Amino acid sequence: MINSLESLSFRPISKKEPYKIIFVCLGNICRSPTAEGIFIHLLRKYKLQDYFEIDSAGTSAYHEGERADSRSRATAQKHSVDLPSRSRRFTNFDTNYFDLIIAMDEDNLTNIQSMMHFPDQLQKVYLMMQFDSESGLKAVPDPYYGGSNGFENVFEMLEKACESLLNFLKPHISK
Ligand code: 4NP
Repeated sequence: MINSLESLSFRPISKKEPYKIIFVCLGNICRSPTAEGIFIHLLRKYKLQDYFEIDSAGTSAYHEGERADSRSRATAQKHSVDLPSRSRRFTNFDTNYFDLIIAMDEDNLTNIQSMMHFPDQLQKVYLMMQFDSESGLKAVPDPYYGGSNGFENVFEMLEKACESLLNFLKPHISK
């Protein structure tokens, strides 16, 4: 089930209590590390990095310990974005630790939800593209088996959705 964004409950975001966001895809080497890198880049641009804690993970452990896919890193580099993450699997700990859990597609969303037992956990899970309401899309397509054009397309989708996500959260930052 996809939660409506209206069911996301907010708390004040401060340096003392940073807002914790995790981006999740299947392999944690293409889409979610790109979203993580872009969001960190935006936080630096707006000098908001002390107000957030950002991470990414995969619903699989296929690429555990690996750096982001070289095609994702090359695409991000073209946009001056660094992808520092190492692949890791999304865990039960993550279901409680993070304030907001953002899945790249519905398969990831369903897998994450199946690890949860309580309504307050379930209300933290959304699809990335919900934050870009203009796109009309649900999924960020998996670029892994496609050509390099797919990576540029994914980067641009994520850049727009990350900007919208940050604008969505900004009113809750208390300085
Ligand atoms: P990601 O892409 O979920 O965006 O990191 C994938 C990377 C690897 C695989 C699938 C998707 N794989 O099957 O190895």
